[in-house]
Amino acid sequence: MSDKVSHPLFARLYPRISAYADAHGSLEHRRELLAGARGRAVEIGAGIGSNFRHYPAEVERVFAVEPEPRLRSLAARAAATARIPIEVLPGRAERLPLDEASVDVAVASLVLCTIADVPAALGEVLRVLKPTGELRFYEHVRAQDPRVYRRQRMLNPLWRLVGGGCNVTRDTETAIRRAGFTIETVRRFEFRPDSKAYPASPSIIGTARPSDAPDRRTLPQQGAADG
Ligand SMILES: C[S@@+](CC[C@H](N)C(=O)[O-])C[C@H]1O[C@@H](n2cnc3c(N)ncnc32)[C@H](O)[C@@H]1O
Repeated sequence: MSDKVSHPLFARLYPRISAYADAHGSLEHRRELLAGARGRAVEIGAGIGSNFRHYPAEVERVFAVEPEPRLRSLAARAAATARIPIEVLPGRAERLPLDEASVDVAVASLVLCTIADVPAALGEVLRVLKPTGELRFYEHVRAQDPRVYRRQRMLNPLWRLVGGGCNVTRDTETAIRRAGFTIETVRRFEFRPDSKAYPASPSIIGTARPSDAPDRRTLPQQGAADG
């Protein structure tokens, strides 16, 4: 599988789509996604870097992986004005250019809908996360209401075509569990900009940890072992 993803039309449209969504509530979702994050982070499929300004100062460095060249160059521009160090890297989530157990936080925002091989990407997230690390996700997902899901299935082929490979039919929470994570928090909501329901309205925001992560209550407190 090539490390490059090319969606020239979508890449031209996405800055406007993202600005519209941010102006209608997505900005708050991005803040919620990243509140309390700390340490070294990887963001998979960072797009144009819409999350960059929401990383708290406690995040030491972000490795932002983006395979689409046009989006990646816009992300690099956003990284240059971010308040924390952000390295924008080429690559796909299915093969992250990072060492094993090298990050504290992995961020997936509006991306597990698009990634071609989600189990491989989440496997990579598990590989690069420290055992005590966490996955933070903000995703639009398949509806729980069967009638809405039926409509999503009908629309999905067209949606994929104009949305750069995006799917509105994915059960991402289940995919995260199946990949070897335990969901710690999940908030399910309808994202309806301008009160309109879209095929991508059913959404989740949450956190997950590697299932075999050591229980944090039994870990020594940070600093307690020093001196
Ligand atoms: C809807 S955009 C979301 C961008 C950004 N995460 C955000 O929150 O605005 C989906 C992104 O996934 C990227 N993408 C597509 N396939 C990918 C893959 N296999 N690995 C990583 N990113 C991928 C696209 O290039 C695009 O930037």
